[in-house]
Order: sequence, then C-alpha cells, then structure tokens
Amino acid sequence: MELKQAPDKNLAFELLRVTESAALAAARWLGKGAKEDGDGAAVDAMRQSFNSISVKGRIVIGEGAKDEAPMLYNGELVGDGSGPEIDIAVDPVEGTNLLALGRPNSIAVIGACKAGGMYDPGSSYYMKKLVVGPAARDVVDIDAPVEDNLKAVARALGKDVNDITVFVLDKPRHKQLIADIRKAGARITLQTDGDVAGSLMVVDPNVDVDVMMGTGGTPEGVISACAIKGLGGQIFGRFDPQSQAERDAMIKEGTRLDEVLSVESIIRADDAFFAATGISGGTFLGGVAYTGSGAVTHSLMIRAKTGTFRYLEAHHNLERLMKFSSVRYD
Ligand code: FBP
Repeated sequence: MELKQAPDKNLAFELLRVTESAALAAARWLGKGAKEDGDGAAVDAMRQSFNSISVKGRIVIGEGAKDEAPMLYNGELVGDGSGPEIDIAVDPVEGTNLLALGRPNSIAVIGACKAGGMYDPGSSYYMKKLVVGPAARDVVDIDAPVEDNLKAVARALGKDVNDITVFVLDKPRHKQLIADIRKAGARITLQTDGDVAGSLMVVDPNVDVDVMMGTGGTPEGVISACAIKGLGGQIFGRFDPQSQAERDAMIKEGTRLDEVLSVESIIRADDAFFAATGISGGTFLGGVAYTGSGAVTHSLMIRAKTGTFRYLEAHHNLERLMKFSSVRYD
C-alpha cells in the first residue's frame, strides 16, 4: 500500500492571526482621512503579532527599505525563529486610501512560501497584470488584444463576452483599456484602489468577477500570486515602469524589462500560504464590525498545496483581550 504523507502544518492559520490583528488595529481609522495613521497602526500590530507565531520568516515585500521603514522593512526577520523558514510578503493595509475614506475593500494581507521561493520585485513598482481563474488559466496571453483575451475567457467559462465582468483600477493610464473592454462588450467594475482585492475576486468562485486587467503595484502582484496559486488561477505580469527613475533603477539591477512573469515564476515554491482580513466592509470580505463589547472580523485563508480555502468569522472579546495583549485595539 502506498504510504501517504501526513498533513503538515498549514501556516495560513498562523498568518491569519496576524492579519486579524492588523485589521482590528487599522479599522479604528476608518474614514478618518488619516492614511498614515491607519497604516501605522496596522504595521505596529502586524509586527507584534508576528513575534508570537512559530516561523523563521524573512520579509521579502514589506513597507520598503530599512532606512525608510522602521518596521516590517524588506529583509527584516520576523516570527519567533522556531518554525519553518519562509519568505513573507505583507501589506498591513492594502488600500490605504480606501481605509482613509471609508470605502470598501481595504484589507490586511499576507502571502508566504518556503524560503527562497518568492519573487523579489526589487525596484519595480508597477506591472501590467492579467488575472484569470482556473478555467481560463491556459487560454490568455498578456500581449494579445483585449478583445481576444475576453473572448477566450468567455469561451473557457461557457459564457458570452457580455456576461464577463472585468476588474480595472480607475486610473487615467487605463483610458484605452477601459474603451477596449467596453468595445468588446464586457462589463467593468472600476475601483479606485485595491488590486489585491481585485485578484481575489477573480479567483474566488463566490464572486462574479472573471478577469482583472491593467497596471498596478508589482509587490501587490506578488502577494496576489500566493492566493492565485492556491486557487488554481493565473497571473501574467509585464513590467510597466511609470517613471524614468523606476525604469533606470530596474535596468541598474539587471532586470529584463521584457520578461513576462507568471504565477509559477512569482511563487517558485510548491506550497504557498495566504491570509487576508477585511478592514472596511467589502464586496467579498466583510469589514471589522464593532459590537459594543468586542469586534467581529472576516478573513480568508488559502493553502496552495491542498487548494483548501477557508472563510473565517472571528468574534473578539476586546475587554478580555486588552487585559493581556500588547497591541491596543480599543
Ligand atoms: P496602497 O494601499 O499602498 O495605497 O495601494 C493601493 C493600490 O491601489 C494597490 O492596490 C495598487 O496595486 C496600487 O495602489 C496602484 O498604484 P497607483 O495608485 O499609484 O496607481
């Protein structure tokens, strides 16, 4: 009889405690117009929560270079140092403007994989992305005309192009893209920020968004890839520097500007983990809701090796938590 491996540890459970903590800390800043304060509270909470989890983690994507970011800087070691060695990508508040303005879909998010397996974007800030779910993962091409890709996705999903919904960031750079999608006949959900949430909507079978197109953050693309790998979809990325300084820095680092990234080249490890907790209420993850004596959080966690994804609603008793927690949630 073939001996099967016993299920090993699903680190997404541990990461989820960290995203919950960040979301609880950040949610107090909903709509207060203070994006730095909201982000700062989440960074602080995430940093402290990492100390209690059993990993030897290295931040590949964090708040930036050590000199500018006092915490969760790129290269920082996190975790209690006792567990598996992992690469980590964090975004304590993905959608800082959304949080500051009280708009939907700001999330606290972490992606992780085995040490050495995560793509490091270096100086690349922007990338053109094409994200699709499992059924369409082999039929799209980032360099093909928009209409061809939409037709291919529609065919793969057994839909008409006018049934398809495309997530696009509402940015001036996407004027032509939006016109092309409209011409092809597909529907669009235009959002000011938050393309990690956009990618999640595409691969989450419960959400009626079929494709994400357009240019957004490269680090956000790497974080999204952890979830996309878990749910079996695809992300193609082509570098799209938005300034001469970004282009020059990438060339200096030896990056091939014409390289096309995919989920396989972004996450090279065979297993990856993903956790996200809603901060402001969203179209796919509820936000932090205060109940008087506590708070309720809504999270999603994913493990790539098994393809298991879980939605978790947690009820936090803030009164009890505040008796011992070093993170302030009140
Ligand atoms: P922040 O949370 O860092 O503000 O990022 C929000 C975001 O909308 C990302 O989701 C997206 O990838 C990126 O900004 C797009 O950048 P820009 O707003 O400069 O076009």
